[in-house]
Parts: sequence; structure tokens; C-alpha cells
Amino acid sequence: MHENFPILFSQEQIAQRVAEIGRQIDTDYAGEKIVLVGVLKGAAIFLADLARSITVDNTFDFVAVSSYGKGQHTSGAVKLIKDLDQPIEGKNIIIVEDILDTGLTLGFLRSLLERHHPKSIRIAALLDKPSRRLQKIDADYVGFSIPNHFVIGYGMDYAERFRNVPDIRLMPADFPE
Ligand code: IMP
Ligand code: MG
Repeated sequence: MHENFPILFSQEQIAQRVAEIGRQIDTDYAGEKIVLVGVLKGAAIFLADLARSITVDNTFDFVAVSSYGKGQHTSGAVKLIKDLDQPIEGKNIIIVEDILDTGLTLGFLRSLLERHHPKSIRIAALLDKPSRRLQKIDADYVGFSIPNHFVIGYGMDYAERFRNVPDIRLMPADFPE
């Protein structure tokens, strides 16, 4: 079914860009340790690939928030559903997220994590939709900047479906719920 959805970024394009971000992180954090904090569930696949393109000493943690309901429209409210497992005080944190869209999720998460007094916080977002921003926030590492289109695949869902699609594809606007 998703075979008919237009491809925005192929597996090869994604792999190449993720490898570049990994090399950049290696340079920026040379000699340091980092904690990759993945935002479930959308960032799981990006984190899995990004982590394997990094050589600096790292650990993983995961948080989960709810911001989107079903379908393509956000409710605006963000709440924490799963907290960090390990303390992050004094650590270098990279929040790993699938899409920076309105900015509400990452704005919420960043201020939440800042309260734990990490040594540093940066954001890695695979995709950025700058035209959708409601809250001013920028990612330090961006895979691709895209226009206002709803996408699926490589971890990203439409009503929890299509996360396993290996490339990133445009969701047809007329797709039934
Ligand atoms: P924000 O709080 O509006 O920045 O929303 C970010 C979250 O919305 C992302 O982590 C995604 O889970 C979800 N999201 C935003 N745009 C898309 C999309 O095009 N496809 C799938 N999920 C999306
Ligand atoms: Mg998400």
C-alpha cells in the first residue's frame, strides 16, 4: 500500500546523511562521553542508526511523550509518559527526535531535561519543518529540512502505522483513517 506513497528520501540518502551527522558528533564530542536520549517511538530507528555511526563513548536512554493524537493533527498539549531511567546530571545529552515540527515537544523536553542539570544539551532531529514552528527552538543537528508535508517511514507513523517503511515517504492527504 505504501508502495504508492511518493518517496521523499531513499534509504541510501538517509544512510548517507545519518553517517554525516555521526561524524559531526564525533568531532564535536571528541574525548567526551554522551547520552543519546531517544524520543519514543518515532526516533527509535534514527537512534539505532545514528548510534552505530558514532564512535564517541555513549549510552542510550529513552523518554516518551504524547503530543500527537491519531492522524495528522496535533492536540498542542505535551505530557511525559516515560521518564529517563538514569540520572543525567553533569552529562552531555543529545536528544534524538524524528521530526522538529511545531517545536512544542522538544521545547517541553529540553526544559524538562535542563532541570536535571546536565553538562550540555543538544538536539538531533532527523527532519525539520521550520514553517510549522509555534515555539522558537532549533536543532543542533538536522538531517533534512522539509516543507509542510506529512511523512511516514523510518520510524515515523500515521496513526501508529508505517514506522517500518525503510524510506521516508509523503503521506497522501486523502488517505483514509
Ligand atoms: P511537535 O511537538 O509539533 O514539534 O511534534 C513533533 C512530533 O510530531 C514528532 O516527534 C512526530 O512524532 C510528530 N510529527 C510531526 N510531523 C510528523 C509527520 O510528518 N509524520 C509523522 N509524525 C509527525
Ligand atoms: Mg515523535
